[in-house]
This record gives sequence, structure tokens and C-alpha cells, in this order.
Amino acid sequence: MKNYILITGGSGFIGSNFIRYLLSEEFDCHIVNLDSLTYAGNPLSLSDCEGDDRYHFIHGDILDRGLLERLFEEYAFTGVIHFAAESHVDRSILGPEAFIDTNIKGTFNLLDVAYRHWKNGKGFSRFHHISTDEVYGSLGETGAFTEATPYDPSSPYSASKASSDHLVKAYCRTYGFPAVITNCSNNYGPYQFPEKLIPLMILNIMEEKPLPVYGQGLNIRDWLYVEDHCSAIWKVFCDGKDGETYNVGGGAERKNIEIVHLLCDLVDKKLKRSDGVSSRNLIRYVQDRPGHDFRYAIDASKLKNELGWEPAFSFEEALENTVDWYLNNMEWVNNVRSGAYREWLDRNYSGRQKGEL
Ligand code: NAD
Ligand code: DAU
Repeated sequence: MKNYILITGGSGFIGSNFIRYLLSEEFDCHIVNLDSLTYAGNPLSLSDCEGDDRYHFIHGDILDRGLLERLFEEYAFTGVIHFAAESHVDRSILGPEAFIDTNIKGTFNLLDVAYRHWKNGKGFSRFHHISTDEVYGSLGETGAFTEATPYDPSSPYSASKASSDHLVKAYCRTYGFPAVITNCSNNYGPYQFPEKLIPLMILNIMEEKPLPVYGQGLNIRDWLYVEDHCSAIWKVFCDGKDGETYNVGGGAERKNIEIVHLLCDLVDKKLKRSDGVSSRNLIRYVQDRPGHDFRYAIDASKLKNELGWEPAFSFEEALENTVDWYLNNMEWVNNVRSGAYREWLDRNYSGRQKGEL
């Protein structure tokens, strides 16, 4: 009998990297990718996996409970890895409702359907909820988030993720449901939607557009290459303990302005610009993000000590790989930047805050 794992949100940034990561390993399960293909989900991100008979795509929404019930009935999933979410903080500030729907109600649907399937003794053994370090709020100059750090979310996005984490924890404690949670820091790498800092800056530098840096650019994020996140997820999915949370991070803290400077220099070098003018001239300090968390840093020692996971990629090398990937994949970029994304940008940004995106 085939062993099916349900992956939600597999056509987004981390989900598509994760599916590719699994299919490149000696992996003997079948993957069902359930994705509603919002602006952030794109089948092109997995076009190279389409021919693999271990990969199956279902176009559908986690808000559709009837669909979830039918899929669990049909495929008798043994596990779920739940990536599907609205993921962009700025969007959550401009319009929180979709975050409440997908991140809270959608997670509840999935959790509850999986729980009933497990309770009926259908061979289900693991629900893995993918979450974020943003649930912990903001750090000052020192310290790092551990799994015991109290939740203190700042944005509608992080509040909705915190809420979904609490639901998962409640199902573990109340019903003994076998779930794990990973809370990860900022990812970067191929196939990230170009609304997020790193791909946005790479593309704006290439196209000689303004580089909008929020506030003074002094906020700090702890960066992790997406493939390292994928290896951590698989490690926790296979070996983590039911009911536990694991923090995932790369130990690569950088100020936003440092990232932007690095990217300007890298892209300038790659494009061999001959006029000698640095792209750093394109930097524009713009109005700060409301409720902007100052600093994130992850203490990933639990994952290291208990499960032996460590990141494999160095920040400088992986950032350069990422720049190369965007420069060589403009077809993907043009595809994801058309349609719904363009309409959203036109509606929400006059150009004052974001420059000419
Ligand atoms: P993304 O926005 O790139 O992708 C989200 C995917 O979910 C898209 O394919 C979208 O179509 C799909 N989706 C959205 N709503 C859906 C719905 N109602 N039903 C079915 N599919 C739906 O996000 P990402 O950056 O890949 O993040 C994936 C997960 O990882 C999220 O849960 C996010 O909170 C978490 N996370 C992200 C980061 C990061 O740095 N990007 C870091 C830590 C945790
Ligand atoms: O920490 C994990 C989180 O990382 C994930 O849970 C989120 O899904 C993911 O989007 C990311 O959230 P951030 O808000 O940290 O990422 P973003 O790329 O939007 O911003 C990174 C930093 O750069 C942040 O301090 C805001 C700043 N920024 C961002 C953009 C888009 C700018 O200065 N200018 C910009 O144009």
C-alpha cells in the first residue's frame, strides 16, 4: 500500500523547496500537495517535479472542510506537514482578514480533520505545523528566543500564527494528538516571492529601481537558507517528540541595511556594471513598518542537542547562490509578478512608500 503525506501550501516558497528536497532524497512516500494558489503560490515553482510519480497536486483550499475530509478518506494520510498560510507581515497590516481565515480557521480545519482521522485508528502518526519565530515578539540588543520564551506577537500575521500554534498545542494536551511545531527565523533562497526583503532588493537593484529600507535599516533578522530549513523540518517530522516545539535558526544575524549593502555589491559585481556607480545610491529610507519588531534571534540548541540538526550552508555563500538564482530565473520572476500581485500593489501602494516597484 502507498504511504501518502499531505503537504499544504507546497506551491509557495518554503513548501516548494521542501517538496523538491524530499523528492531528491531516497524518499519512498507519496506527496499530495494541497494548495489554493494564492498570489504567493505558483505551479511553476514545482514544474520540474510534475513528472515524478511520487508527486500529486490538488488545487484546493484548507478552508474547504468537506474537501479535507474527502482527501483524508481517499488517501488515508499517515502524516501532514502544514505550510499553507498568508505569510507577509506588510499585507497583514493592510488587510488582516485573510490571515485570520487561512492561518487560524484553515489550520483549525486541517487539525480537526486530521485529529478525527487519527482517532479513528487510520494509521495517522504525525501533524507537523510550520510556524515562525515572530510569535515570540521582539528582542532587544541581546538574548535569543528559546522554546520557553512567552508568546508576544506584534503584527496581525504573527498573532494569527501564534493563535494557530496554540490550537495545535491544545490538541496535543487535550486529546493526546501527535503533533509537533517548528518555529523558524527568516528564510531566503530560490522561489521566494519578491515582496520579501531579499528578493525584492535583488530585483530592484537589477532593474535600477529605488530600494525601500524601513526606518533606519537597523532592525535585525536571523537568516536561514531555505534548504537548511527543509532539512530541519524533515528531521523533526521523522524524529521529533510528540507535543514538542523546536526552534529553527541559522545563527546569521544581520541588520537590514547590511543585507541591502551586501546585495547591492553582489548584484553590481554579477552584472559587471561599467559606469562605476554603486547601486547603494538607490537606497531610500522610507516610513517604518508599524509595530516593527526590532530584532529576532533563535536559540536552536534543542534541535541540535536532541536531534543532531545543524545548518549546512554559510550565509555569504547561500546569499550569493540566491542572487545567481534570481538573475538566471527571470521567467519565473516575471510570471509571479504579473496578474494578481500587480493589482494588489497598484491598490495598496501609491509609490510614496515603496518607490517604483
Ligand atoms: P508563501 O506565502 O510563499 O506560501 C504560502 C503558500 O500557501 C502558497 O503556495 C499559497 O498559495 C498557499 N495558501 C495560502 N492560503 C491557502 C489556503 N487557504 N489553502 C491552501 N493553500 C493556501 O509562504 P512561505 O514563506 O513559503 O511560508 C510557508 C510557511 O512557513 C508559513 O506557514 C509561514 O508562516 C512559515 N514561515 C515562513 C518563514 C519565511 O521566512 N518565509 C519563516 C518561518 C516560518
Ligand atoms: O521571522 C520569520 C518571518 O520572516 C516569517 O514568519 C514571515 O513569513 C516572513 O515574511 C519574514 O517576516 P519579516 O517581516 O521579517 O520579512 P520581510 O522580508 O518582510 O522583512 C524583513 C525585514 O526587512 C524587516 O525588518 C522589514 C524590512 N523590510 C522589508 C521590506 C519588504 C524593509 O526594510 N524594506 C522592505 O521593502
